Amino acid sequence: MAVTYTWTCLLLWISTSTQTTTPDAHVTCAFLEDCVLPCSFQPDSDEVIRWLKQEVPVHSFQRGGEWSEHEQYAGRTSLFTHMVSHGNASLHLRGCGPRDRGRYKCHVRTSAGVHEAHVIVRVEAPIRALSLELSRLSGYEEVKCTTRHVYPAPHVAWATDPPTAQPLRPITRKLADRQGLYAVESRLRRLNSQSELTYICTVNSSYGSQTWTASLREREINGVEGKDLTIPCHAPPYQPKSSLSWSFTNHNEEALILTYDSQSQLSSASAPWEVCARLDVLKVALGDGSLQLVNPVSLEHTGTYTCVYSSPQNTHTEHTGVNISAVTGERMRSQEESRWWIIAVVIAVLALALTGILGYLKVRGNQSKPRKRPEETSEMKPVKETTANERGLSESSPLTTGETLSTNVNILTP
Ligand SMILES: *[C@@H]1O[C@H](CO)[C@@H](O)[C@H](O)[C@H]1NC(C)=O
Ligand SMILES: *[C@@H]1O[C@H](CO)[C@@H](O)[C@H](O)[C@H]1NC(C)=O
Ligand SMILES: *[C@@H]1O[C@H](CO)[C@@H](O)[C@H](O)[C@H]1NC(C)=O
Repeated sequence: MAVTYTWTCLLLWISTSTQTTTPDAHVTCAFLEDCVLPCSFQPDSDEVIRWLKQEVPVHSFQRGGEWSEHEQYAGRTSLFTHMVSHGNASLHLRGCGPRDRGRYKCHVRTSAGVHEAHVIVRVEAPIRALSLELSRLSGYEEVKCTTRHVYPAPHVAWATDPPTAQPLRPITRKLADRQGLYAVESRLRRLNSQSELTYICTVNSSYGSQTWTASLREREINGVEGKDLTIPCHAPPYQPKSSLSWSFTNHNEEALILTYDSQSQLSSASAPWEVCARLDVLKVALGDGSLQLVNPVSLEHTGTYTCVYSSPQNTHTEHTGVNISAVTGERMRSQEESRWWIIAVVIAVLALALTGILGYLKVRGNQSKPRKRPEETSEMKPVKETTANERGLSESSPLTTGETLSTNVNILTP
């Protein structure tokens, strides 16, 4: 039973599909480029070919010549005339634009009969670039995702990593220019609740042929002059790790630090950074493009460090504001100075105490054993000299000692 039923269905399907006329062909034409709308027929004599779009004549061919039928197509349409006698009535359309999309009919009349075919034409201006940047123009901080010259208008979606409980409320504007191409700008207000978020903007072309992503993260870190510092950069899992670049911005001047290319496995640093910036090349391919700053200097190395993982359709950017503070360096120096002062004071106090005790013992010794006096004095001599030195130091600046103590307190409770 089941077998006969299947057979009936199959036969029915075959018969219906052979009965229907040729199904619509689909063609996607690239914006401003040439396009071929296919149409073939059983060759015979006396062909008359007409191309129409939704019943509006577009192009005609007859023995002796061919011509565009509509001003919209003037000078942009032609047939492959030498192929017509072989049954090829395809239309060659040049410089496609949004207005050319639609359903076309190829109508061929020969002495043998009439042939008709339909072609659905889509026109696409693919996404060629996507930018994601921080903007502070409108009073509050926003992340702005932009793409231009795209047709049809693409879809924009936002996400964050890690995801937030708050719904994201982007404002997206799509504006068409004179040619009908879209400029898309989507703005998302920065969430204050979590500062360390990666914002991800995904733009899909309307026909689903392309998906572009751009992601952005911003952070601030502090470093200490002279102490090596690692500036993090981590690519999201979907991001191809093909190429990485690091740059540095200070006082609105941008300088390239280094670039890394996974294909050549070469990393090239620009001149002043060769010595002080290091990249672990093995980790880059695994998505960790962190940069190590060697022996940073406050004035030279304080600024914004930007890492960009990029591949043709995916870009991940991280801006890290780095503050290399020299203040802590001064503190360290003053801490060292104060340490010496404390040592000096302690030595002075100990020496004073020692002299006191020895003096006391001497006095007692003088009283009890006056004969041993010359030996003792000679033993005492060096001790006495140092004592005098230390004492001189500590006593000459009692104020400094006081300052030292207060600095010390500062260090303990920063
Ligand atoms: C017709 O000829 C053109 C030019 O040679 C070719 O590009 C096209 O594919 C042909 N179309 C058909 C339906 O054979
Ligand atoms: C874009 O395309 C991807 C893959 O096809 C899909 O997962 C995603 O949901 C699409 N996003 C939008 C905004 O259409
Ligand atoms: C860097 O840090 C120091 C001390 O923490 C601070 O005084 C200074 O304003 C910071 N500089 C920048 C550019 O943030």
